[in-house]
Amino acid sequence: MTHNRLDFPPDFIWGVATSAYQIEGAWNEDGRGLSIWDTFCRQPGKIRNGDTGDVAADHYHRMPADVQLIGDLNIPAYRFSIAWSRIQPDGKGKVNAPGLDFYDRLVDNLLARKIQPFVTLYHWDLPQVLQDEGGWTKRITALRFAEYAQIVAQRLGDRVNYWITHNEPFVTAMAGHYTGEHAPGKRDLTAALQAAHHLLLSHGLSVQVIRSQVQRPVNVGITLNLTTVHPASDSQADHAAALRYDGIQNRLFLDPVLRGRYPEDMLNLFGPLFPQIQPNDMEIIHTPLDFLGANYYNRTIIRHDPDYPLVNLQEIHLEGREYSQMWEIYPEGIYEVLVRLWNEYHPPKIYITENGIAVPDGLDADGRIRDYRRIRFIRDHIAECHRAIQAGVPLHGYFVWSLMDNFEWAWGYDMRFGLVYVDFKTLQRTVKESGRWYSQVIRQNGLDLNIGAPYFPC
Ligand code: GCO
Repeated sequence: MTHNRLDFPPDFIWGVATSAYQIEGAWNEDGRGLSIWDTFCRQPGKIRNGDTGDVAADHYHRMPADVQLIGDLNIPAYRFSIAWSRIQPDGKGKVNAPGLDFYDRLVDNLLARKIQPFVTLYHWDLPQVLQDEGGWTKRITALRFAEYAQIVAQRLGDRVNYWITHNEPFVTAMAGHYTGEHAPGKRDLTAALQAAHHLLLSHGLSVQVIRSQVQRPVNVGITLNLTTVHPASDSQADHAAALRYDGIQNRLFLDPVLRGRYPEDMLNLFGPLFPQIQPNDMEIIHTPLDFLGANYYNRTIIRHDPDYPLVNLQEIHLEGREYSQMWEIYPEGIYEVLVRLWNEYHPPKIYITENGIAVPDGLDADGRIRDYRRIRFIRDHIAECHRAIQAGVPLHGYFVWSLMDNFEWAWGYDMRFGLVYVDFKTLQRTVKESGRWYSQVIRQNGLDLNIGAPYFPC
């Protein structure tokens, strides 16, 4: 038998990721304030089946058992987010002690099992009171965020080594303020661009706050959702459209954070719609980072579309390609993104902070969940990560989205991303085959392509 192994560096960090609103539930307990997702879910027609995160996976009440599960699966790192509205129900000022205590206990539970916490400060759940004052379209929200970051850093900074300011500001800005698919559900491009700038500003401010608050070396970064953009054809118009899309999703965030300026072509494209940039803003946004987090799910194929206002482009699906329930499956894309990041932006370190797939899993008669499609997806992406490391990319870790099935935003509970199955009626957890398989990858610190074989009968 030939031995076909892909070994990872000894200090490579394997993990799983979740976010507060998607798993916690307990929406009105222990002094938690409302967030924009509580409000958005209550607007008819916004979320499939009228689902909400009121209960979600009930993690708030099951946290110790969930941490034990991570430990039992032998997973050395856990990325989770903190709900701002548990910490400051009014979005400013007074701290809600039980909220802060919850995350304090979570961190202690993780450390007791030698699981490294990766804390994300913002995964889309702005306190509703701040939204009522204009939310991310207002500059003051960036200052409020810095205050919130300071409170959390002060409490957890003695134990947490990895800090992520924002998760996917592109999604907050665009899905929240331009397409309206996400909370707060606005449809206004000017607002979206303003939100983007203030999110970036809040990022830079909070990096500085975390560093000054925590008097020991910690790693601070941001997570961007990056895609590899391909033109739909060889035509010049499609190439130009693909470049514009790359600007909007990737460079509009990468360039300010890692180069200290907005891309010239984006400034030209949006012209007067672009928000006012105050002196020093770009310097703050460009505060040096310890790492960049990248979420990768799919590639994006773009064609020129003169009828689409302003940006003149449209995303298309290609015939003959394999699609999951949500997106095209394109493992080479994670390699393309990583190599591009390294070549063009040189971040000191990179982590894949999310990668995963929605599969309509269910229990077989014997109680097992044979999610072989997910195993193949993750295996193929890990193999591409390995290829990127071989090519010299400083990739230091990889996190599966997600630890367990959860509230998938506008899709509600229809999309299951977990390594662990959640029965949303009983809230019982069952480890899927992918969970067992991933645990084995971690134990071996890499892929043993022979051992994977039984999962892939083809
Ligand atoms: C994302 C979010 C997750 C999603 C996942 C699947 O970063 O988009 O972090 O909350 O659930 O990406 O869509």
